[in-house]
Amino acid sequence: MNAKKTRISTLQPPAGFKDILPDISNIWQFTEQVCREIFDNSGYKEIRTPILEKTQLFERSIGNETDIVQKEMYTFTDRSGDTLSMRPEGTAPAVRAYIEHSLGLTEQIFKIYYIGQMFRHERPQKGRLRQFHQIGAEIFNVKEPAAEVELLIILNGIFDKLNVKNKRVQLNSVGCPDCRPEYLNKLRIFLESSHAKLCNNCQRRMNTNPLRVLDCKEEECIPIIKTAPVIMDYLCSLCSEHFKKLQALLKETGIAFEINTKLVRGLDYYTRSAFEIISETGGSQNAIAAGGRYDNLVESMGGEPTPAAGFAIGVERLIDIADIKNKFLNPLLFVLSLGAAASAAGLKIASNLRERGIYVEFGYNERSLKSQLRRANKLGARFVLIIGENEMKSGAVTLKNMEAGTQESISLKDINHLAELVISSKK
Ligand code: HAM
Repeated sequence: MNAKKTRISTLQPPAGFKDILPDISNIWQFTEQVCREIFDNSGYKEIRTPILEKTQLFERSIGNETDIVQKEMYTFTDRSGDTLSMRPEGTAPAVRAYIEHSLGLTEQIFKIYYIGQMFRHERPQKGRLRQFHQIGAEIFNVKEPAAEVELLIILNGIFDKLNVKNKRVQLNSVGCPDCRPEYLNKLRIFLESSHAKLCNNCQRRMNTNPLRVLDCKEEECIPIIKTAPVIMDYLCSLCSEHFKKLQALLKETGIAFEINTKLVRGLDYYTRSAFEIISETGGSQNAIAAGGRYDNLVESMGGEPTPAAGFAIGVERLIDIADIKNKFLNPLLFVLSLGAAASAAGLKIASNLRERGIYVEFGYNERSLKSQLRRANKLGARFVLIIGENEMKSGAVTLKNMEAGTQESISLKDINHLAELVISSKK
């Protein structure tokens, strides 16, 4: 037994990779279904891109100096000598596909969504996995802030349907290549003056990627970051106007948000709007979704100049805080049968009711009435239909209401009446 256990444990998936077990797969399916429905109604069509891409794709889009590219990608050389990476996110592959298949030519405004695994070699902890899932959406060719507003409306719609409480939308503008360099310069000069007090990571980052210093959670960096110059004061007139319009539109559409001038993203492609949806219940890994505008990415990857924006939800984090357990009904009816003839009659009744959309469980090969009742109880069935030899003879079966503790006799032939009784209890 022990030897068996040892063998199994050596075959466990790598750290940070998890099975999604049948007891929660219905929550995953429901989450995906809610998202697909909202995407369908908003004109976003699904794209499925490969899990492996050339490493260059991520280097060029996410940025060479980001943690994702520097430290977190699963990268290897395949048997043909190509350097490949398991996708750490979905935007770069979506943009690659957009350019490669000239998707923007068929419809000027182009909207897609994706659902799938992403891979980042981070330190696993609650809410942080090495294989995780994202549900993301991207909209191409809309330069107006209506794009970001629609994305946030979609996100709110998803969170509402999944009963997510205590979430906050945080918003910032990260400027554009016209205004960001001046800000970065000011930020670098400021950080230089506190160089010795910064953590080791930030001492390095302040030269390679100074914006990320603003996101540092190390104790020694927090007081320094508090007094750092804010990008908002350096936005060019176009970025500033965009940000004002975005805020006005959000207010008009009733989307609550707060400005977080320290919100910077771990991916380099953003221009102007950056946002995160933060959960107050999710612990330290509290961003359930994030996104923003990336007006230069398509062009920088070889496409036509194409403004674009998008978001991605971290599905594990979302499911962790979604309050949707009550969406999953227990069986309405458990068909309990005793003996071969009753079993056949029971299977027929079960299949008839299932065709009518009723969730029915069946006793299968359990022998005693007691053990079948035990299983019906465990499953939380609302009714139990008892078919034994006597019932087969008399043609009248017993329907037990497990909650009320009552029972009544119904004709075996009158399935319509049975269906009505069971369905009416749902209301
Ligand atoms: P991101 O902020 O890197 O953005 O990831 C989006 C979301 O994925 C996060 O807010 C979080 O919920 C989830 N996530 C990220 N890393 C992990 C992890 N290691 N374990 C569990 N969940 C994680 C992007 O990926 C952008 N592509 C979003 C985007 C789309 N921007 C524009 N379009």
